[in-house]
Amino acid sequence: MKPSRYHPALVALHWVSGALLVAALLLGTFVMKEIPNTSPQKLEALRAHMAGGIVILMLIIARLIVRLSTPKPERASAGTPFLDRLAPASHYGLYVLILLMATTGLATAFLAGLFDIVFAGSGAPLPVTFAVFPTRIAHGIIAKAIFALIGLHVLAALYHQFIRRDGLLGRMWFGKSRPASADREAA
Ligand code: HEM
Repeated sequence: MKPSRYHPALVALHWVSGALLVAALLLGTFVMKEIPNTSPQKLEALRAHMAGGIVILMLIIARLIVRLSTPKPERASAGTPFLDRLAPASHYGLYVLILLMATTGLATAFLAGLFDIVFAGSGAPLPVTFAVFPTRIAHGIIAKAIFALIGLHVLAALYHQFIRRDGLLGRMWFGKSRPASADREAA
């Protein structure tokens, strides 16, 4: 019998990794990118960003493992076959893009020797720009795609919650889980 909500570990990972992801996207786009590589502040910003990005990568891997190994509630219907196909595609798309985001960030850091400069204090100067690395260009493009998918994800959650009124948000929160059929009878 399917549960009426996601596993509490998945709920915790969803909200913690989601908050960190949005923070990394906003700070990366509007703060870190704007600091010139010649500024001493850049090292601090990169240190926080790289450490945060690696934490996000670990949380996403943990999320995938928990998601694949715990029972999930019944698929919620959005009311049309097209939207019902779009939902799982956009969820898996988000996982893939976040994994690509972290790997292109790591690849850029390796190519630019950032681990020695930022974490080991090698004292070597940062490259004048990171834009010479194709992985950095991909990192920026993927960031925009994730922004767009998160926007779609939030709109979909609000549509379910307030237009279809199917209590979808409650499935991604803590509480006692009842069999999904009992949930439908109660509704
Ligand atoms: C999934 C987690 C991550 C997110 C959401 C993220 C987000 C961002 C964003 C939004 C930018 C600016 C992109 C632009 O507007 O062009 C950026 C730049 C960058 N990120 Fe990440 N990032 C993540 C992981 C990482 C990791 C793991 C590393 C390295 C260990 C990394 C290294 C960098 C570097 C070197 C830059 C270039 C900074 C610059 O051009 O000044 N990122 N990141």
